[in-house]
Amino acid sequence: MSEQRKLVIKGGRRIEGEISVQGAKNSALPLLAAAVLLKGQTELYNCPGLSDCDAACRILSALGCSCKREGSVVCIDASAIGTSEVSEKLMREMRSSIIFMGALLGRCGQCRLSFPGGCEIGSRPIDFHLDAFRKMGAKIREEHGYIACRAAKLKGAEISFPVPSVGATENVMLAAVLAEGNTTIHNAAREPEICDLAGFLNRCGARISGAGTGTVHIEGVKRLDGCRYTVMPDRIAAATYLCCGAITRGELLLTHADIASLGPVVPVLEQIGCSIYGFGNGNVYLNAQRALKAPAQIRTAPYPGFPTDAQPPLMALCAAIPGTTMFVETVFENRYRHVSELIRLGAHIKVEGRVAVVEGVNRLTGAELEAGDLRGGAAMITAALFAEGTTKIGKICYIDRGYENIEGLLKGVGADIRIV
Ligand code: EPZ
Repeated sequence: MSEQRKLVIKGGRRIEGEISVQGAKNSALPLLAAAVLLKGQTELYNCPGLSDCDAACRILSALGCSCKREGSVVCIDASAIGTSEVSEKLMREMRSSIIFMGALLGRCGQCRLSFPGGCEIGSRPIDFHLDAFRKMGAKIREEHGYIACRAAKLKGAEISFPVPSVGATENVMLAAVLAEGNTTIHNAAREPEICDLAGFLNRCGARISGAGTGTVHIEGVKRLDGCRYTVMPDRIAAATYLCCGAITRGELLLTHADIASLGPVVPVLEQIGCSIYGFGNGNVYLNAQRALKAPAQIRTAPYPGFPTDAQPPLMALCAAIPGTTMFVETVFENRYRHVSELIRLGAHIKVEGRVAVVEGVNRLTGAELEAGDLRGGAAMITAALFAEGTTKIGKICYIDRGYENIEGLLKGVGADIRIV
């Protein structure tokens, strides 16, 4: 059934109030996959209600795990796992299902997954993942659109990535925790989600050190047991809401957030003219009532660089404040798909390859838009909150993949937003 629902936003209102930030999609997904490795029951708290998480739960059920959700708690028991194959249909639902490869190899010594293929934001090869598994002793056959891996017993290895990859780092961690011997990942990704995965696996009995640094050590163990764990706050959802607050010159209190994980997003918003600080346990305050001015340059990069996932909502903000910003997208080759839609609202943006030059304007006007990917959809919502008149955004299924109840939360702080 084609996606009929649309978001309808009447812009021009200043938003103010409190938003409770969801659990992190990009942490919940590897944690759900990790449950495959564990004996007994696992309870994940603060697990966001997103279509991507539902897809991961469907994969767990298809593998033979019991997987139940009650509100933001997901309970998994992988004792009765019955297969190590993930169908094409399930793989196509969510590209990052590739993360099940390391977990299945670690648990079953084999797996068969359909090729994930690229997605809207880039070709997204998985060569780092496969090279690493080969180094750990896996035999890999790629045929008929499937990848079949087999390893009687995975062995620890020295792994080095050409560039820090979040997915490859997580996949090797999942494969190495039950492998024979020690594994070291050099030039590993340092994203906070890597630390959350290490925290979870160590609570289950793993021996991982160095998560969050460029070098991760994993000492293989014989057994891992389920545990209770709370998924970290979603730093990209938090960054998106802060951009929404700033573009309406508003005032926001984010709760259940983590200002430390926001990294360079905070100094960029301060540079723009927002006052922003964290206090107490999980509170982030933003006030954007002073005159705002666009930053000169934003260059995305692996953590602790500026997150590529926050680039689209920040671009929407920069399109609506005085000044010129040059964006350089270094992580993905096709991450400006939202630009043509922002231009429909009246934004002045020129794109040349991985560079986009944004000349801020002081007036945008509502229009009919269509989301083309998750964060691009978030950029359209951000800009529509500022645009005069009504904006309609189609294909919001993309937005459901990463934002839980975004229209309800924005309505709660005064935005005129609804789903039709
Ligand atoms: C994760 O994707 C996130 N997804 C992405 O968030 C995020 O944009 C990305 O990391 C970067 O921060 C999840 O965590 C589920 P990578 P991932 O491997 O793991 C190249 C969102 O909006 N590469 O770190 O797929 C790759 O092409 C999503 O929430 C290879 O060349 O990203 C890219 O240029 C979108 N070969 C770069 O590395 C490989 O084998 C970084 O990709 C693997 C990666």
